[in-house]
Formats: sequence, C-alpha cells, structure tokens
Amino acid sequence: MAIERTLSIVKPDATRRNLIGKIIARFESEGLRIAAVRKTHLSRREAEGFYAVHKERPFFGELCEFMSSGPCVVMVLEGENAIVRNREIMGATNPAQAAEGTLRKLFATSVGENAVHGSDSPDNAKIEIAYFFRETEVH
Ligand code: CMP
Repeated sequence: MAIERTLSIVKPDATRRNLIGKIIARFESEGLRIAAVRKTHLSRREAEGFYAVHKERPFFGELCEFMSSGPCVVMVLEGENAIVRNREIMGATNPAQAAEGTLRKLFATSVGENAVHGSDSPDNAKIEIAYFFRETEVH
C-alpha cells in the first residue's frame, strides 16, 4: 500500500472545546504521523479560498463564517493509505450518520460544526496541503 499525505483540520468547534490533543492522539494511535502542524485563525477570505469548490452550495456562507469564527489546527497526516484512513477515522460528514467511535460521532455536534476536515482524494490532498504548507515545512 502507498504512503500518502492528506490534509487534516481540527475545526473551530473542536479547538473551542479543548479537543486538539485528543484528536491528534487518535491519529497517532491509528498509525498516522503528523508531518506538519500549525494553529491558525483563518480569515473569512482564507476560508472562502480553501472551500472554493463549494462556493455554489447553499451552505457556503455559513461554512466560511464558521471556519473563520475561531482558531483551527491545520495538519498534514502521513501514512499508509492516509487519505482513506483519515476519512474512516473521521466518520461521515453528518455526525448523525457517523459510525460509533469515529471522531465525528464522538465530537461533532452538527453537519456544519463537525470537528474535523480531511481531504477526499489524492488530487485534493495535494491542493489542500499546498494551500497551507510549503514543501519545506512538511517532514
Ligand atoms: P468538510 O469535510 O470540511 O467539507 C465541506 C464541509 O461543508 C463539510 O465538512 C461540512 O462541515 C460542511 N457542510 C456540508 N453539508 C452542509 C450543510 N448541509 N450545512 C452546513 N454545512 C455543511
């Protein structure tokens, strides 16, 4: 299986609730490495740029408002099959549909405030990692 990198974000609802450590510990315990990490408070414009693929969606404004409402932790996770593994660990976007034990089942409160983000494909992982990190910052 290939070693991959994927972008992970601990969203403002989770940083507000002091869950950064628990979420990072879960990734590490599942065998994913933290290849890069930074705490940042996204501007509205940065959130809009990151989620530009969703700009026609009815929830785009709400999503960008929320993502710029407090600090996030942006990370690069690295490991075997990291993109799919991260999505399994996160669980379904809507916590009501997330499997038991997943981060969103444990920590998310709604589809909008869903604790974590993860890239959904190899192409998007590359784009999303480059949005936040220079190559020299990923180890
Ligand atoms: P994320 O994995 O960060 O990718 C896009 C985000 O849009 C998603 O998680 C949700 O937080 C958000 N989202 C998806 N559907 C809705 C919705 N119906 N209402 C509000 N936010 C949504």
